[in-house]
Amino acid sequence: MTSTHTRHLSDTSASQTPTQGQGSCWPDHGGQGAALLDRLGLSSVTPTMDVSASLNPLGPPAWLADWLARAMNEVRHYPDPEYRDAVAALAASLGIAPLSLVLTNGGAEAIHLVARAYRRARALIVEPTFAEYARACRLNDIEIERLQLSGDDFRLDVEALSARLAPVDLVFVCRPNNPTGTRLPRSDVEALVAAARRSDTLVVIDEAFVDFADDEAPLTDLVEQGEPLVLLRSLTKFYALAGLRLGYLVASPQRCRALQHHQVAWSVNGLAAAVVPELLADGDFARRTRDWLYSERAYLTAGLRDLGLTVVDSQANFVLFRPPGQPSQANGEALLAYLARHGCLARHTHTFSGLDGAWIRVALQRRADNDRLLRWLGDWLGDWLGDAQSRGENR
Ligand SMILES: Cc1ncc(COP(=O)(O)O)c(C=O)c1O
Repeated sequence: MTSTHTRHLSDTSASQTPTQGQGSCWPDHGGQGAALLDRLGLSSVTPTMDVSASLNPLGPPAWLADWLARAMNEVRHYPDPEYRDAVAALAASLGIAPLSLVLTNGGAEAIHLVARAYRRARALIVEPTFAEYARACRLNDIEIERLQLSGDDFRLDVEALSARLAPVDLVFVCRPNNPTGTRLPRSDVEALVAAARRSDTLVVIDEAFVDFADDEAPLTDLVEQGEPLVLLRSLTKFYALAGLRLGYLVASPQRCRALQHHQVAWSVNGLAAAVVPELLADGDFARRTRDWLYSERAYLTAGLRDLGLTVVDSQANFVLFRPPGQPSQANGEALLAYLARHGCLARHTHTFSGLDGAWIRVALQRRADNDRLLRWLGDWLGDWLGDAQSRGENR
């Protein structure tokens, strides 16, 4: 490899590097327990609870292990490059035409397909949000503008967003948003796509967590009406299949063909594709998940608020909160480290624009684990408030 190549490669990775600490970096995503403990200087801790990755604690479905064992014979064959069975099952479940859907290697591939198709364009990203949009844009020389949300509710003003569309080719909106859990109302999405039509901008809505949101008419009808809209979806979160890699996107047939053009052949593995119809047929798993979710989201949110923490209303399977008082990186980090010392891995927010470590995101668990988390938080707050009083501080 020439020195030019070496320099180019190292430059690219440097531009992706998250916040640097004294030793190692903050990990880019949840579910990177060893890297998180390393960054906190707590490598000797044995984790007992991981709330840093937002996966359904009821999953994966119990039948999956046997199903995969039986399906192993199939790994000798190439999968159908068009994934017709999986696409047909997903399209039928959404009530859309199969030509409006592309199966992808997780929601992450869907993000990167869009960015690849818009190489050297200009994009607007609503922050704080999932860092992969910016990374995909950087990898494709897309110029990035940002609309930063703030306050304790992270409300998105759709008029302000619409006013920023004219100079950009695409806009990324995550709904429900990672990490805030907030969901832009459907009426605002309609206003946004109307503005996008006028400015010839593509609206990219990442719905990786949509299956956890309260019922609402899906946005697929807007795609079918020909609006400039792409929906990105993931099966990772709801079915707890992070290692299998399954996602898809919904767009007009013409746009699907254009995006597919950039997809690596057989990018979704054969086992993942083959399991799609089985997952969709498991209505019992979906029902149990929703029952768990509605009870635990309300329970944990109320429990966090009762402790005096500042909590964002969530439409996802995770909750974002911070210690009381002004947002403080030191307090956020102290709490993160306290939880880690007890074996509980929460999601730091150093890699989310504007949150800077002051907030913490936790994935909802079953009741016993949510209670464990609330107890640790209560103990930490007790110590923290006690320390403040003994120093005569007014928190
Ligand atoms: C908002 C959002 N979109 C997409 C993804 C990627 O999902 P997948 O695991 O299906 O690639 C994630 C993963 O955390 C996410 O948070």
